[in-house]
Amino acid sequence: MENLNELSEVISQIKEEITNGIEKLENSRMAYEFRKSFMDNKAGKISALMKEMRNIPGEQKAAFGKGINDLKNWAAGKFEEIDAALKAKEAMARYESEKIDVTMPSVKPELGNLHPVTQIRSQITDIFTSMGFEVFEGSEIETDYYNFTALNTPADHPARDMQDTFYLSPGFLLRTQTSSGQIHVMENKKPPIKILSPGKVFRSDDDATHSPMFTQMEGLVVDKGITLSDLKGSLDTLVKKVFGEETTTRFRPSYFPFTEPSVEVDVSCFECGGKGCRLCKGTGWIEVLGAGVVNRKVLKNCGIDPDEYSGYAFGIGIERLAMLKYGINNIKLLYESDLRVLKQINEN
Ligand code: DAH
Repeated sequence: MENLNELSEVISQIKEEITNGIEKLENSRMAYEFRKSFMDNKAGKISALMKEMRNIPGEQKAAFGKGINDLKNWAAGKFEEIDAALKAKEAMARYESEKIDVTMPSVKPELGNLHPVTQIRSQITDIFTSMGFEVFEGSEIETDYYNFTALNTPADHPARDMQDTFYLSPGFLLRTQTSSGQIHVMENKKPPIKILSPGKVFRSDDDATHSPMFTQMEGLVVDKGITLSDLKGSLDTLVKKVFGEETTTRFRPSYFPFTEPSVEVDVSCFECGGKGCRLCKGTGWIEVLGAGVVNRKVLKNCGIDPDEYSGYAFGIGIERLAMLKYGINNIKLLYESDLRVLKQINEN
């Protein structure tokens, strides 16, 4: 390039190129590259013009430099303008795509619920603690003494055959009943005693209605003048709350070594109201627990004078209650953690 005329021609060309090129830019990335092709210090077309300076005669240098500078400023303005416009467009597109409708109903997170056995255990605990009972949780590993002997079931007693025991070592076993808790409490506390003892128990037993591990809830009351009618009153309150106000109880004579007299407690069938149905096998009654008046020998074993004090005790199988209440026919369903089953029996 040799003179100003030539320069102004080149400037017009570049301006035209920029004006046309800008029209075709679709995004800020393209705008960046396009700008670079003119303004880049090394490879830019406008920068290259500067290098022509040395070929320009001295008196024209100032005007030449001004021409290029003006072009540079003009181009910078254009590039800035298009860059801002494209970036604004991109931002809008992003806002649009990330738009959140805050009025949309939310996706409800699935809430877990307490296991049916836990629910019944808590319900029974609430009922009895409201009547002044305290909770005592014994240990799952017991000695033969607490699980059997002190409960009036010595080594050769036929009642031991009622329960198949998991022995751990001579003298130690997995408790077969929460009744062992009665002894611990009576050894450590003087009457009046009103305790509830929930927990796992273990028996070598396994079919549709029996599991090697299940849950029991023991109740024990010892005081002056406690009789079978106190037991009846407490259990009536219990079953009305668990199975409904219409429910009543019936005592049938039974045998447990640690109670005398002993009873099996039936509730009037909450399914048919006592008329007879499949659940109660046509009898109108369903057996729910064992109970009785604490055997004098058991009180004596714990250092409590049976002439001064008397008591009642009961033992409830929680899984059995859950099965009756929720219509579950196989105890294993309670332990398989199958959400389809657990969801069906969620009361909340
Ligand atoms: N321990 C008995 C069982 O597991 C249940 C039982 C019956 C508990 C009578 C008691 C009771 O406290 O008085 O079969």
